[in-house]
Amino acid sequence: MTDTSVETPVLTAPEHGENGARGTGTPMIVFEAVTKIYDPNIVALRDVSLTIDKGEFVFLVGPSGSGKSTMMRLLLKELEPTSGRIIIGGRELNRLKRSKVPMLRRNMGCVFQDFKLLSNRTAFENVAYALKVQGDSRSAIRTKVPEVLGLVGLGSKMSQMPDELSGGEQQRVSIARAFVNHPPLLICDEPTGNLDPDTSVGIMQLLYRINRTGTTVVMATHDREMVDKMRRRVIALDDGVVMRDERRGSYVA
Ligand SMILES: Nc1ncnc2c1ncn2[C@@H]1O[C@H](COP(=O)(O)OP(=O)(O)OP(=O)(O)O)[C@@H](O)[C@H]1O
Ligand SMILES: [Mg+2]
Repeated sequence: MTDTSVETPVLTAPEHGENGARGTGTPMIVFEAVTKIYDPNIVALRDVSLTIDKGEFVFLVGPSGSGKSTMMRLLLKELEPTSGRIIIGGRELNRLKRSKVPMLRRNMGCVFQDFKLLSNRTAFENVAYALKVQGDSRSAIRTKVPEVLGLVGLGSKMSQMPDELSGGEQQRVSIARAFVNHPPLLICDEPTGNLDPDTSVGIMQLLYRINRTGTTVVMATHDREMVDKMRRRVIALDDGVVMRDERRGSYVA
């Protein structure tokens, strides 16, 4: 894979190797007493403190409105905490200059429930678009896009439009787009929320494979069966508070 980045990455590269899936003891994400209050007075997160190590796979669970998406949006610096600190890859987000935010996001893949694909672009173009925006050369795009679409099992469907792909395939395109830069951190907000159980298993396996390359994966989900099957770290929120944080957790206590 050609590395075309010339700037210093905001996050350090993922640590490869068998430690990957277990966590390396080096923090990727730190929340220190984070509170988020939306106007006028909706407390979405209350005094949340937690650490997620590089290479971990973490499920974020909790009822609707418990603050999962708020956590994701804080990580992306789409929102600012009302109080507390968030540190990603050693960088404190509060202190990150505006000009560094695009680089932060480039180092963080995002996958959403509704795929967020461009409907008038092929699978190839949907993945290529992000690379064009960041200034990759045409030859880099021609190498990287087929490689990552091959990785997600869509090597033969690169020229199909989103509406010619199944829901699971569309989500694979969006995962390819999120992973094309091999970011150290992948955040997924209910990535299987719109998919049937069998398709969800495939998406889950793909995310798990990505995690094994060393990428830290944080996944918000309501998928009880998946969480119970995977037995990974589970952080459970309720009304903005961390109620449970278990190494090999389940959906409910
Ligand atoms: N932009 C906003 N303005 C005001 N309140 C908001 C905003 N976004 C979220 N909230 C509120 O903050 C709380 C947490 O919402 P959040 O979206 O983080 O929950 P969630 O756990 O992701 O829920 P779901 O499982 O339904 O996606 C809720 O009470 C919600 O109504
Ligand atoms: Mg949500």
